[in-house]
Amino acid sequence: MNDQGRWPSEPPRAVAKRLGTSPRRRGWLIALEGGEGSGKSTHAGVVAEVLAELGIPYRLVREPGGTPLGERIRQLLLSGEVEIDPVAESYLFAAARAQLVATVILPALAAGETVICDRYVDSSLAYQGYGLGIGLEQVWAMNRWAIRGLVPDLTLLFDCAPEVARRRHDRPGDRIEGRDAAFHRRVRAGYLELARMDADRYVVIDAQQPPERVAEAVRAAVRQRLGAAVGHRKAGGSGETGRGRGAG
Ligand SMILES: Nc1ncnc2c1ncn2[C@@H]1O[C@H](COP(=O)(O)OP(=O)(O)OP(=O)(O)O)[C@@H](O)[C@H]1O
Ligand SMILES: [Mg+2]
Repeated sequence: MNDQGRWPSEPPRAVAKRLGTSPRRRGWLIALEGGEGSGKSTHAGVVAEVLAELGIPYRLVREPGGTPLGERIRQLLLSGEVEIDPVAESYLFAAARAQLVATVILPALAAGETVICDRYVDSSLAYQGYGLGIGLEQVWAMNRWAIRGLVPDLTLLFDCAPEVARRRHDRPGDRIEGRDAAFHRRVRAGYLELARMDADRYVVIDAQQPPERVAEAVRAAVRQRLGAAVGHRKAGGSGETGRGRGAG
């Protein structure tokens, strides 16, 4: 983000269009974002249920990971076994993402599947861009080729105070979870800033509510954003139906 509170050069969707790197695709991309323990993985299952109800085939993936290369990078990034410089960390996340986009997400979308992504590029913008202070411009520049201009159609942001989320996990934190409270507060504020800058794509969900309420908000957001689009596609005769399936 620059001083005027705008995207570095132009909005991601416009970047994608101009680069022409985002191939014609038939499925939607839904990303779940938020801090550690905010409920992303829990509610990825809720998104999957809604897609199944709508008759939309889907695939569920997580970041970092989801490919043999990505899982190796995940281990390096999260285990703390080797020292990693902040810029190197940013490139490692982008490399894992590039592999996932090229070998899993784009083929799935082209085959008509909707992809549910448990974290995506906005995690890098929030964690490395804001959290580590590398800057949005830099992190976006590192990632624009990694994602081939592929920006989510819908991003659900699970907004939760880090202190609240930390109490939900009973396991020891990984290398990134273990960073100090100020880091996690910058990540949360960064995500909210991203949502404000890209309001068309984001739905911010109060993830401090009881799980049933959060699930309800997730259902409403997915149905509202995709239900209308599905109806439109079906009316146009090009809708795809079928039973959903998960793969992650
Ligand atoms: N709204 C909620 N209220 C209370 N507990 C919740 C809520 N949402 C999720 N949880 C619980 O909090 C824990 C963390 O949730 P979950 O694993 O879905 O978070 P996450 O965002 O995927 O975390 P991570 O970033 O570590 O992958 C789980 O035990 C889950 O059951
Ligand atoms: Mg998770």
